[in-house]
Amino acid sequence: MSWNGIIHAFRDRLPLPANAKAITLFEGNTPLLPAPRLTAAIGADFDLRLKYEGLNPTASFKDRGMTMAVTHAVAKGAKLVICASTGNTSASASAYAARAGIASAVIIPSGKIALGKLTQALIHGAKLLPISGNFDDALNLIRQMSNLKEVDVVNSINPVRIEGQKTASFEILEALGKTPDFHFLPVGNAGNITAYWKGFCEAIPKGPRPRMFGWQASGAAPLVDGHIIKDPQTIATAIRIGNPASGEGALAAAKESNGRIDKVSDQEILSAYQLLAQTEGIFVEPACAAPVAGLRKAVAAGWIPKGSLVTMTLTGHGLKDPDTVLSLYPNAPNPIPPTLDAARKALGL
Ligand code: F0G
Repeated sequence: MSWNGIIHAFRDRLPLPANAKAITLFEGNTPLLPAPRLTAAIGADFDLRLKYEGLNPTASFKDRGMTMAVTHAVAKGAKLVICASTGNTSASASAYAARAGIASAVIIPSGKIALGKLTQALIHGAKLLPISGNFDDALNLIRQMSNLKEVDVVNSINPVRIEGQKTASFEILEALGKTPDFHFLPVGNAGNITAYWKGFCEAIPKGPRPRMFGWQASGAAPLVDGHIIKDPQTIATAIRIGNPASGEGALAAAKESNGRIDKVSDQEILSAYQLLAQTEGIFVEPACAAPVAGLRKAVAAGWIPKGSLVTMTLTGHGLKDPDTVLSLYPNAPNPIPPTLDAARKALGL
């Protein structure tokens, strides 16, 4: 059967204006990959499946919410969609706006956007508004702009974004034919964990449901530290957020599911980032490695019983952020003469 995007697949479970024409790039239907080599490498004995959301059209999970947000915007007659973003939301908003034939403007923290995401917003023709501030400042500005009649906000403070993102939970349950015991994912502005939990609650009204384990970076962990972080810092720029808009939703998901929101250091994130790429051949951006590092921590702490079924969302593709890779491998090899001898010598053969 052909796949025509999440609105087509899940229309009966999504709030949409009657007769709205779906603005879609056929997002969703991403693979749920087994990860036996990663599991062995972290010394675990359970079944781990990775929901690889980097394979969406703009290479992040944001497309699930954006097809909904832009479909609604167009149905309302909006001519300009705006968002604050650490990069992926802006990439997705600008692509879906282009698809719809409307304009987009993105407010981003200057100098803190991964290169790939910036190039996406540029090529899709978004109006870029870099600010001398962080994501939280950008979102504050968006809240002030949200009453302007000319614009439609497509951040996850727009509830239809959460509705679209919940469809990943439906896909996980359909792919497995049963309920995972645990679900791991990164937490930044906290919309996605809120959306996954909503999806699991709707799909499994009576339970039991997965225990939700959300992971922040330790320099940007307001939900773990229990207060707003004024100057959040992490290598994982996607989740460099000190005052998450959906913080309440994340805390509720963890509490209601008997899960937890926890944090991992940048060093742990970078180590997990390389481990995932080198054990499974899956390249993600640094934020997605937070739950991988978190899984290591959970295994070491004995939180995951042997034989569990664990699912994890890998939220964005590694090609978004080439600079982080290059910072880990600074010494590009020198050229060699194109001879068998030189090649053998270089490879130690
Ligand atoms: N992973 C990636 C790759 C992200 O881009 C984000 C958020 C998250 C995880 C966290 O998801 O905010 O729902 O808790 N990126 C937003 C953006 C903030 O602007 O692209 P969340």
